[in-house]
Amino acid sequence: MQTTLIILKPDCVQRGNMGECITRFERKGLQVVGAKFIKVTEELATKHYGEHEGKPFFPSLLQFITSSPVMVLAIRGNNAVDICRTLIGPTNGAQAAPGTIRGDFGMNNSTNLVHGSDSPESAERELALWFSADELTDWHRDGQAWIDG
Ligand code: RTP
Ligand code: MG
Repeated sequence: MQTTLIILKPDCVQRGNMGECITRFERKGLQVVGAKFIKVTEELATKHYGEHEGKPFFPSLLQFITSSPVMVLAIRGNNAVDICRTLIGPTNGAQAAPGTIRGDFGMNNSTNLVHGSDSPESAERELALWFSADELTDWHRDGQAWIDG
């Protein structure tokens, strides 16, 4: 079982696509175990995207992610990290396949709607950055066996 960090980015919120995106994770069989709606500080954004610090696109990436509120989700399930990345699609919406979130709603590399952690190690680091322990809720979903098979 893995838990991964999902961010519904400013463009997703502004375009009214939060519900659509959450639905895609839920209907796949993943479980929401944490959620909050916040305006990201520059400090948090810098830590979150630390691996990209110094790259040419870093200033515009920070400007974008702090420009308007985001919804942050902790999402759980077997192989949740990879499954969420598959549902989201590759970084550039122009190249992402239809059926993925970015393929269905994205046109470029920057306003690409949704972030998902890229490995279990990243998920652990990012969840600790965005959520305190008491903001994550363990709960039993009736009917889980119908998803697990
Ligand atoms: P994210 O972290 O936002 O979910 O996106 P990702 O894993 O698909 O892509 P990543 O390589 O982690 O890049 C983070 C964000 O930086 C911007 N980016 N621009 N111009 C460029 O070459 C470039 N490369 C990355 C994108 O906005 C990407 O979402
Ligand atoms: Mg990334």
